[in-house]
Amino acid sequence: LDNIKKVETDFIVVGTGIAGLVSALELSSKGEVMLFTKGDLKDCNTEKAQGGIAAAISNYDTVKLHIADTLQAGAGLCNPKAVKELVTTGRKEVKELIRSGMKFDQQAKELALTKEGGHSCRRVLHAGGDATGRELRSFLAQEVLDLARVNIKRERFVIDLLVTDGECYGALVYDQQEGLTAYLAQAVILATGGAGQLYPATSNPKGATGDGVAMAYRAGAEMMDLEFIQFHPTTLQLAEVPNFLISEALRGEGAVLRDQSGTRFMSYHHKLAELAPRDIVARAIYQQMQQDSSDHVYLDATELESGFIEERFPTIYQTCLEAGIDITKEYIPVAPAAHYLMGGIKTDSNGETNLARLFACGETACVGVHGANRLASNSLLEGLVYGRRAAKQASQYLNKMVDLKGLDFSFQAQRETKNTIKEVKAVLNNIMIDKVGIVRNKEGLKQASSQIKFLLTNLNYNLSSPADWEVQNLLTIAQLTIKAALVRQESRGAHYREDIPDSRRDWKKHSVFKREQEWEE
Ligand code: SIN
Repeated sequence: LDNIKKVETDFIVVGTGIAGLVSALELSSKGEVMLFTKGDLKDCNTEKAQGGIAAAISNYDTVKLHIADTLQAGAGLCNPKAVKELVTTGRKEVKELIRSGMKFDQQAKELALTKEGGHSCRRVLHAGGDATGRELRSFLAQEVLDLARVNIKRERFVIDLLVTDGECYGALVYDQQEGLTAYLAQAVILATGGAGQLYPATSNPKGATGDGVAMAYRAGAEMMDLEFIQFHPTTLQLAEVPNFLISEALRGEGAVLRDQSGTRFMSYHHKLAELAPRDIVARAIYQQMQQDSSDHVYLDATELESGFIEERFPTIYQTCLEAGIDITKEYIPVAPAAHYLMGGIKTDSNGETNLARLFACGETACVGVHGANRLASNSLLEGLVYGRRAAKQASQYLNKMVDLKGLDFSFQAQRETKNTIKEVKAVLNNIMIDKVGIVRNKEGLKQASSQIKFLLTNLNYNLSSPADWEVQNLLTIAQLTIKAALVRQESRGAHYREDIPDSRRDWKKHSVFKREQEWEE
């Protein structure tokens, strides 16, 4: 690092979704914060969240019921303590958001609550109809923009973490104008979101390349439950059109799924039919598509009143209309697409990793609130609750200030692919959807493992561009996901092995591993 420019600050936060923004807001009362995004503030998964944010706030709902639904969806793998924290503190945090001016949709002067899969009652708050993430992110971003102590760094790619003796003191950052800079801090919070770009079809934005997870792995952080990747059951499936999310809330309001002959099929799979937990609906659709030799099934919202659809789901209505489908009159062709990373960087209940001074929160982290399958609309809630908890704990390091000058850092150099990035990403995407998708088996996973190994060994060391580093990060996560999927010899939640279709009691445990620590099979 000798020839690289160094900048000192108190805290680094990477990512500008709900978890990153809440962390930055909380930390700013304690010290100076550098908030990094590789694009602009809105380039994050939060921006795309439609359905809403779940909170047990109505008088017919209880914390106990929300906890029970979360545990049920999580298929036996949630950490009950973390879930309790999520639901109880989450309810307070949501009320606090409303008090501070966040406008959620109302109906007859009361908060309007919707229902989604796996929820036993209406408890999902929404804003802008189906634009909850966008509204919430811009509300929080405005608060952050007003703070002098938060220094927002846009278009900066965080390449790797700076670690010495098991403690993290900063990050190596690339910017097109200035090249590389080493930012040094008392603590680092990763809130970099998920990795939907592992797959050819995803509801995630282009930047969802799991950078935080991959860099934490390289730095020696523990990874947990990476085999659990959630596919959203219903995204718009049309040739030449990206897989746009069709919110589960549409089913919550009465839309139903139909096969190619127009027949409903979900009641054969679960008593909650279209509102069964997400893993069950996604698998049922996958099976139906195979049976019908089709790349989609249909979502039928035509029974809903057209004025209601236009007002309640303006983004979905407009996007489908632009793609040639009037959802008030026509069935919507839909298919599952990669949506959410349940696993991630293992943290304790305060967001701290096994590396001191390194924190993770939101989708990047795995604190155990989602288990094997996340309950719909619990993710924004997680960002809110655990973003704040991580920041509170990180701020304690101001009491243990270290002189950052003269520390000797190690970091794992990134690598550049020999082939063109586009080629490598397309090959990776095909491997992942063919062999590491909604339905998996040992043979396919083993083939995928050696194919990814081949791609990884065809790399040479050379720092280059963000697009290269993103593909490198995706390859790392693919390798880890496959490894975890092979090791978990059962089916549970979003991880379905057709060769071992049942859950096994002895596998009611987490997969945890880190660099240079092999799995025992
Ligand atoms: C949706 O609106 O269906 C997505 C909600 C979520 O992923 O929690």
